[in-house]
Amino acid sequence: MTRAQLDKKPAEVSAMFDNVADRYDLLNDALSLGLDRRWRRVVARAVGAGPGQLVLDLAAGTGTSSRAFIRAGARCIACDFSFGMLSVGARRPAPGLSFVAGDALDLPFRDCAFDVVTISFGLRNVADTEQALAELLRVTRPGGRLVVCEFSHLPSPRLNALYEQYLTRGLPAVARRLSGNAEAYDYLAESIRDWPAQPELAGKIAAAGWSGVCWRNLMLGVVALHEARRRDH
Ligand SMILES: C[S@@+](CC[C@H](N)C(=O)[O-])C[C@H]1O[C@@H](n2cnc3c(N)ncnc32)[C@H](O)[C@@H]1O
Repeated sequence: MTRAQLDKKPAEVSAMFDNVADRYDLLNDALSLGLDRRWRRVVARAVGAGPGQLVLDLAAGTGTSSRAFIRAGARCIACDFSFGMLSVGARRPAPGLSFVAGDALDLPFRDCAFDVVTISFGLRNVADTEQALAELLRVTRPGGRLVVCEFSHLPSPRLNALYEQYLTRGLPAVARRLSGNAEAYDYLAESIRDWPAQPELAGKIAAAGWSGVCWRNLMLGVVALHEARRRDH
């Protein structure tokens, strides 16, 4: 577990997201200068779900990432443990999209229920990465796929050091002005700094039982996309 995962209890994490829920999507757009929209399009292409398929978007928050999957014709369950985030999402109902309250560590779904499972900017916030990856595997059908989109690390140590300075000083300062919620964005910076680098996360995904794990960097590694598959049998 990372230090950020150890420092925050799950109830504190869900309360923190309840508190920012109303402004979450607006702040995401502002703080990423709209890049989050591009990252979501890449995730939707990687998920590649179409008509007749069922997608689990875990830690889906307000369901912003989920909407791209239903636009492609799939059905999607947006699952999160923050009622605040889910209720903001549910204000914008859409055919094929359901919001379900649930904990990533004990998912309220039967085995093998989904064709694709995905989690965007959420795995870092879950208290136990390994348990969440095992639960995701359990609810994926044999041959089904996993797509993880998460903030990550820049392979160049010098660039990464600059980026970490931005995370420590720049980002919380801007976020404080825009959101008035210093705690949530100090936590964001801390949790990104502590998060395993791309090869280490790939190792955790494989150790949880997923096969064919691979990843690619977006924006030099600011974000990484990990993909894997559940063995057929
Ligand atoms: C940074 S938000 C990401 C939301 C959305 N996926 C997106 O891309 O905008 C992280 C989400 O993870 C959720 N989360 C954290 N731990 C969780 C858990 N154990 N079970 C379910 N959701 C969890 C939080 O409630 C929050 O909505």
